[in-house]
Amino acid sequence: MTRANQGADDAAANDPLASATHGGSQTYRITIPEIDLSASCKEGESVLAAMVRHGIKRIPSGCHGGGCGVCKIKIDAGQYKAGKMSLSAISREEMDKGYALACKTFAKEDLEIAVVGAMRKSWKLTP
Ligand code: FES
Repeated sequence: MTRANQGADDAAANDPLASATHGGSQTYRITIPEIDLSASCKEGESVLAAMVRHGIKRIPSGCHGGGCGVCKIKIDAGQYKAGKMSLSAISREEMDKGYALACKTFAKEDLEIAVVGAMRKSWKLTP
């Protein structure tokens, strides 16, 4: 575990809704294995908003509206709903390959995410 995501783990450990149904509201687990990160994401909450809520640093973001593409991620496992995204920020071919914009990605089950694009630079990962 890295120091950078310690806060995320602590927040998730203290989150009674993590990966559970509680009071009719579903919560899902988001994991990013390459950076040893795990956090909960509430139903209807974007992946980006969940990361911000957990205080996870070094998550690139810009417009928060699906228009700039800086929050691009790749979903390796799990079902999700994609909100409206600009085709200038992400192509249909990328979407077909599982790429999405974290600010417009809404989990429908636990998600496993790969680090791509600006997020790789932010976490100082090799290309
Ligand atoms: S922050 Fe701009 S597309 Fe997600």
